[in-house]
Amino acid sequence: MRRSIIAGNWKMNKTIPDGVALGGALADDAARFIEKCDVVLCPPFTAIKAVADRVAESGIDVGAQDVHWETSGAFTGEISCEMLLDAGCRWVIIGHSERRAMFGETDDTVNRRMKAAVAAGLKPIVCVGETLAQREDGLANDVVRRQVRGAFAGLSAEDASKAVVAYEPVWAIGTGRASTGEDANAMARVIRDTIAELYSRDLSEAVRIQYGGSVKPGNMAEFARQPDIDGALVGGASLKAADFMGIIAAMIDSKE
Ligand code: 13P
Repeated sequence: MRRSIIAGNWKMNKTIPDGVALGGALADDAARFIEKCDVVLCPPFTAIKAVADRVAESGIDVGAQDVHWETSGAFTGEISCEMLLDAGCRWVIIGHSERRAMFGETDDTVNRRMKAAVAAGLKPIVCVGETLAQREDGLANDVVRRQVRGAFAGLSAEDASKAVVAYEPVWAIGTGRASTGEDANAMARVIRDTIAELYSRDLSEAVRIQYGGSVKPGNMAEFARQPDIDGALVGGASLKAADFMGIIAAMIDSKE
């Protein structure tokens, strides 16, 4: 049985005090959910340390939204795995579609980040997902297969087993237009089949897969009920404690 995992991607939101307040509200309630569900908060870089300190002891984990693959040096503006670990991160989001679309992220740079993260002991949440045009052209499965193959290229089975894959159709992100549970599960199957081709059926059944894209407390159950979906990567609805708690509760209730 795969353990559920709900992650909040705060994107470019929350000052340090606002982030600490949100993390604190969740940490103070963590006893209600942490036995049944992994919870990861991904603040902007500036708030990571303060949020990690605030949620320490609660069982809630903290992650970053990106990481550079080099260990140190003349890479102005970049952050290394060691720095993230030092700030209290255990997780890192890699290859988010916003970084692919706006900041030149490619399957190759996703793969470099994946290798650096697992080598350093950070657990990746690697994002894949097709655009609306790709879906309308019938290319969704091919695009996601290519992204999964690119992300995992050259990773050992042991390292691959540490990753979580987030299926986030680009057209569902921030639009209020979530995928259906059925379509999301079908893509989760495509992802598992691709991982089985790369490694083994056992590993593909052990890897955790999240759905992301306009997840709210009201639609989480539809995704959580799907056999191949183990959680969610949440954007907008992770910015309010009550909404994020509602999503965690829906996840737990649906898997019980
Ligand atoms: P929304 O939940 O705001 O649609 O964002 C999803 C997302 O991009 C999470 O990484």
